[in-house]
Amino acid sequence: MKVNRLNDLDPKTYIKFLKSWASEKEITARDFILFFTKEKDEQGNINNVFAWGFPDSELQKLRSTRRNIFTALDKNAHDYSYALINLQNFEFKNAESVTTFFNEKLEPILLFLQNHLCLKAYVTILVRNYSKESLYFPCSWMIGELVRTYFHMKDEKLVCQDLINDEKNFLGLKGKEVVYALNFRKEENSPIKTFEKPDFSISAEYAQNQLPQWFVLKPPPRKEKVKLHPGKYPEILVADLIKSYTQRGDIIFDPMSGTGSTQVAALECGRKAYGFEIARHFFDIATERLANIPTDQTEYQLINNDVRKIEKYKTLPGTFDYIITSPPYWDMLNMKGADTQKRRKQKGLHINYSDLKKDLGNYENYEDFLDQLVEIYERIVLRLKANGYFTIIVKNIKKKGIIYTFAWDLVQRLSKQMELTNVQFWLQDDIKIAPYGWGSAWVSNTFHQYILTFKKTGLS
Ligand SMILES: C[S@@+](CC[C@H](N)C(=O)[O-])C[C@H]1O[C@@H](n2cnc3c(N)ncnc32)[C@H](O)[C@@H]1O
Repeated sequence: MKVNRLNDLDPKTYIKFLKSWASEKEITARDFILFFTKEKDEQGNINNVFAWGFPDSELQKLRSTRRNIFTALDKNAHDYSYALINLQNFEFKNAESVTTFFNEKLEPILLFLQNHLCLKAYVTILVRNYSKESLYFPCSWMIGELVRTYFHMKDEKLVCQDLINDEKNFLGLKGKEVVYALNFRKEENSPIKTFEKPDFSISAEYAQNQLPQWFVLKPPPRKEKVKLHPGKYPEILVADLIKSYTQRGDIIFDPMSGTGSTQVAALECGRKAYGFEIARHFFDIATERLANIPTDQTEYQLINNDVRKIEKYKTLPGTFDYIITSPPYWDMLNMKGADTQKRRKQKGLHINYSDLKKDLGNYENYEDFLDQLVEIYERIVLRLKANGYFTIIVKNIKKKGIIYTFAWDLVQRLSKQMELTNVQFWLQDDIKIAPYGWGSAWVSNTFHQYILTFKKTGLS
């Protein structure tokens, strides 16, 4: 068996960290230490770990890992092989409270770690977004952006909690909370990113729907033809959102329809359905699926073209009641050697959406891709009714060891026209785990998707 360079764990325990989400019963703070360090360094000395923000009772558990646990910025200590910072008990309800905390507490810690953390060592920040009554603030994203000015961001993991007994979450639902474990690494050339103050437009009111903050979906197996599409979302998920945000007879739109899951769900819920899809083969699959739906809702139209041509189509309704969509996963499907790509190729399935230049999945530069996508969204928001909702189902992207916070970036960029009104996570556990880098490097499988819902504000 290969030597595992990161920790002393056997493959079975290691595997818990290969998935980008876990329940809090599966993974505790102690497990992070066991995962990110070995008990002893190469000279046989016990490894030092810096832990901050834990109550005494928790520290005792951390000490049972048999590593040396340090809690103060002690300049005489040896180098640290890992740092675990717990911000779960802090409440940051706006950007100002994060900035104050960063300046007074977090930045001194990061400066200290910059000097005392071993090269290639990890830093984990445990933090939760603010959500109380109807106020929500994604402080974790802002903290993530700030820490990125010191260390490379490598991974985001969700630790999912069930709220106990009849404790209710901000939606008034007996709900479930998410703690982010943001994982960074000290590299030779850290820092890599300059900080841009986030400007999220957050709605004062939460847009409720049936779904809790996180949930695992087990969609029915996909039909053979639909499997041809590499990035499909389940109709049961779309149907739930459509029923929450619209009425019977309302008009639903998806600018990038793929196999037509949005339209299928919309028609089945008695709504009207419109959309674009640039790739001919997916358009054909979608058209066939729509023709076979037993529904009395006859009003639908799918157009095989670049959605940027929308103005040309005069038969489309002038206003949409709800938009729901999922963008291409940047150009990840074009990444040669990607694991899923290999598997899809072997099965004779499509490995990308299309080779078309106008297909957003074929832009190589992340910023260009984001600009184009945002431009498309901004253009279609103009057709969304006032106070209408817009849901985007999207993943953050990991490419060549770098994490691109696609979901966070979209929220930031779309804030001019819309307010974020809900963030939920669709967790997948029906995909085979790939043991990327086992033994040498750690790369987790991203099995969580953001469900970002915006409300069109009066601004546009
Ligand atoms: C993630 S997939 C959507 C999957 C879809 N939600 C489903 O469940 O099948 C994104 C789709 O956007 C399409 N696309 C990319 N650029 C486009 C453009 N400029 N106009 C219209 N569609 C585009 C791709 O061909 C791809 O099928």
